[in-house]
Amino acid sequence: MTRRPIIAGNWKLNKLVGEAVDTVEDVKIKLMDCSKEEMPVVVFCPVFTTLQAVSNVLEHGKGLYLGAQNCYWEESGAFTGEVSVSMLKDLCVSYVVVGHSERRQYFSETDEMINKKAKAVLSGGLIPIICCGETLEQREQGITDEFVAGQIRAALKGLSEEEIAKSAIAYEPIWAIGTGKTCDSAEANRVIKMIRGVVAEVSSQDAADKIRILYGGSVKASTIEEQMSMSDIDGALVGGASLEAEGFAQIVKGTMLARAK
Ligand code: 13P
Repeated sequence: MTRRPIIAGNWKLNKLVGEAVDTVEDVKIKLMDCSKEEMPVVVFCPVFTTLQAVSNVLEHGKGLYLGAQNCYWEESGAFTGEVSVSMLKDLCVSYVVVGHSERRQYFSETDEMINKKAKAVLSGGLIPIICCGETLEQREQGITDEFVAGQIRAALKGLSEEEIAKSAIAYEPIWAIGTGKTCDSAEANRVIKMIRGVVAEVSSQDAADKIRILYGGSVKASTIEEQMSMSDIDGALVGGASLEAEGFAQIVKGTMLARAK
């Protein structure tokens, strides 16, 4: 089963309009020589206020896609400060990060809310990147698998086989995010295989074979080749290293190199 890799840059709370546009333009130049057939799906996830401007400079359909970092599950109405899936679609957003650990931690998002968001994203025809991952404390207690499996079961509740097959999951151990401490590639692959097993159990083997499962947490140009050489790692959700065009382009190229081997 060949799954097209996804390299998504999560810019978090960074970049004004001009900076966002400059970064995308710069990445486009750096990837100009890459074969579109061999390129992974490259996704930029800027803040809401720069989505329109980034959308204008992206070449949709040429391997470069727009992603949002969050969304709300209701379509419209009295929900001050929220943004709906159709509003994202209106700006040509294709992917939506759902349930990032920073949303869970700082904005009290629960498994139930994340499930509602994933459902809304899929109903709107977009692709959720559903995040999961354990804390350092949970890892040290030896409950990583149980905890992550629980997050995945909750996030996928009520989704059809077809919806799950086209979704993406990002395994991001919290202790590896923004710390420079990348999870060992073999260990990340082991947890990701475990997640695939959970998908097979709650849905089907076919959905488990098709769903893309990314790794996230201090991914850099120097780590990507090894990560992408693993059997079950289908790409990366990149934070810090996606802010700078050169580093992000190197990550995309490293993915292609690993896949070409
Ligand atoms: P870093 O790559 O900065 O560790 O962030 C990972 C992340 O949270 C991506 O969503």
